[in-house]
Amino acid sequence: MYNMLQHMHSGLRWIVLLLLVMAVFSAFSKMKQNKTAYTSGDKKLFFYNLIGAHIQTLIGLILYFISPKVQFGEGMMKVTELRFFAVEHISLMLIAIILITIGYSKSKKQEAPGKYKTLFIFNLIALILILISIPWPFRGLGTGWF
Ligand code: HEM
Ligand code: HEM
Repeated sequence: MYNMLQHMHSGLRWIVLLLLVMAVFSAFSKMKQNKTAYTSGDKKLFFYNLIGAHIQTLIGLILYFISPKVQFGEGMMKVTELRFFAVEHISLMLIAIILITIGYSKSKKQEAPGKYKTLFIFNLIALILILISIPWPFRGLGTGWF
């Protein structure tokens, strides 16, 4: 169970990142072009982006309770890897996902092109936070690329 969820969470990062990058670029270009139409393609992209982020969060939250990388105890805050997973990763990721959700929800009540501006700003900040808080292999946290 743990192994399966860990692999899912690790692999799903790429899908979440791809959708998020596509969402940011698409929202930006449509905002710049002052597009007044919201196509079914846009609708799908921002919807899948939200669902991908929500599924990743759910898996992450389950992992938080079963992962050996999340441990509490005296001195754990001084150990980089333990502090990263117990505190840093979950806090920044939660903020990022909440931003994606607020952006999506807020944009639903708006018309294009204002809609695209909201989607662009919220998804861009979320993308930056997610890139910062992914435990990339080069950060020495004992993680891999997939
Ligand atoms: C940690 C668990 C989760 C939390 C706290 C959460 C929270 C939320 C919130 C607050 C919204 C409302 C957004 C709005 O105002 O439209 C929402 C919408 C949604 N979430 Fe999640 N979610 C979670 C997990 C999931 C999972 C696992 C899935 C998919 C299997 C999912 C799919 C959706 C969908 C389809 C919507 C509706 C989007 C729409 O309104 O068109 N969520 N979620
Ligand atoms: C609130 C949301 C999240 C929580 C609670 C969470 C929790 C966790 C936990 C507990 C681990 C350690 C798992 C292990 O034992 O290896 C982990 C690893 C990881 N998380 Fe998250 N996560 C969240 C969101 C995300 C998001 C949004 C992404 C990327 C899009 C992400 C990417 C990763 C990656 C790449 C790993 C390393 C997996 C590995 O190779 O071991 N997480 N996360």
